[in-house]
Amino acid sequence: MTLENHHPTEIEIQEKMWIEIIETMETMYGTLAAAQTEMEKKNAELQRVNEVVRNIIRSMINALVVADKSGRITLSNEACARALGFQQEDIIGKPLEKFFAPGAKNAIYPGSAVWKQLREVGAMRDVETEVLLANGQAIPVSINASVMCDRSGGMDGALLVAYDLRPLQKALKKVRSEAQETERSYRELKALQSKLIQAEKMSSLGRMAAGVAHEINNPLGAILVYSHLLLEDTTDNQQQRETLLKVIRETTRCKEIVQELLGFSRTQQGKRRIHDLSQVVLATLDLVRPQPLFQNIVQDLETSTTPVRVEVDLNLLHQAIMNILINAAEAIEGVGTISIRTWADEERRTANVRIADSGPGIPSELLNQLFEPFFTTKDEGHGTGLGLSIVYHIVRQHGGTIEARNQTGGGAEFVISLPLKTIEEAQS
Ligand SMILES: Nc1ncnc2c1ncn2[C@@H]1O[C@H](COP(=O)(O)OP(=O)(O)O)[C@@H](O)[C@H]1O
Ligand SMILES: [Mg+2]
Repeated sequence: MTLENHHPTEIEIQEKMWIEIIETMETMYGTLAAAQTEMEKKNAELQRVNEVVRNIIRSMINALVVADKSGRITLSNEACARALGFQQEDIIGKPLEKFFAPGAKNAIYPGSAVWKQLREVGAMRDVETEVLLANGQAIPVSINASVMCDRSGGMDGALLVAYDLRPLQKALKKVRSEAQETERSYRELKALQSKLIQAEKMSSLGRMAAGVAHEINNPLGAILVYSHLLLEDTTDNQQQRETLLKVIRETTRCKEIVQELLGFSRTQQGKRRIHDLSQVVLATLDLVRPQPLFQNIVQDLETSTTPVRVEVDLNLLHQAIMNILINAAEAIEGVGTISIRTWADEERRTANVRIADSGPGIPSELLNQLFEPFFTTKDEGHGTGLGLSIVYHIVRQHGGTIEARNQTGGGAEFVISLPLKTIEEAQS
């Protein structure tokens, strides 16, 4: 039997076939194994990317929501649930519309104007609107929105990122109120400054007036003495006598003015003692009551039921209150009511007296000139314009304040406030 004419037996054919099958299978297994390794690698990569995305979404501070093109929410982050006060599962699957405040301007959901605009432009920034919290409260938010596209470029859904505007609005409000506060204190400071300037002006004018008074007091006295001497010698010439009488009259008036002016220098002197302001007021009223000007005036008195202790030079305080009372009586021209009230303001630690009248009141443009020396609206011979400036001086000497204003019903009102003393201070 030679090899050439050897015919493979049935067994040999089968063997060969099996070998081929096994070889093919082996190659296939090899390819399959390689494909599997490749797939596992891809899978791991995908998982990693997924993880990163998930982490980003989770760690976002702002609320993130993804909705499909019908407006149904398909994804939201924890910040969103937390901010709204919902559970994540309460949000997923719900329509966007449900989370906007009813009637909110710029709401974003299919059918709203902003949604339509978003479709057209692809992305929108800082859309201010209002969303609803789980508790029903509407809060202001700002939203950045963008369209998500499918493979063919059509709208697949929308991605919204919202942030709470409340902290910003709160900060803004605070800044605004702080600015207002600053402006207010600036205005107060300005007012105080002009008050101080006014006070300084008045006290220097007062000092000057007192100085002048001192200088001309003696010459005036001399003029009076000599005029009287001349008058005694002039018995026969009637015309000269009348002239001299005029000189005496006018000089006497000058003396009176000078005497008032000297009130300024007198305000420095005297001993201070503790008195009840109500009693001081009553005593002053006793002084003025007998005067003819006060005969037809009704005095409406309301004195404090408890002592209103002040530490004052009694004579000076009498003078101050008297000047105000006389002005009041002059304002009502002897007919009408003068209301007087005394009280202690424990909180501000002030002793107060208010003197109001039923007169015509003070024109508002004159209110800040009243206390200036020589300011008067009265006719010559009737007012010197010194009364209130002396009052002002006395009150300031005692560490107090004086306010002039008009009552709502008309008529002027003057309030003097002095430092209130305690009973212990009175006893020491
Ligand atoms: N009770 C009052 N009602 C209206 N005006 C007043 C009153 N008290 C004071 N005045 C105004 O204040 C001015 C200054 O008062 P004052 O200093 O006492 O000077 P005089 O009484 O000499 O005019 C007065 O001329 C008057 O215009
Ligand atoms: Mg007067």
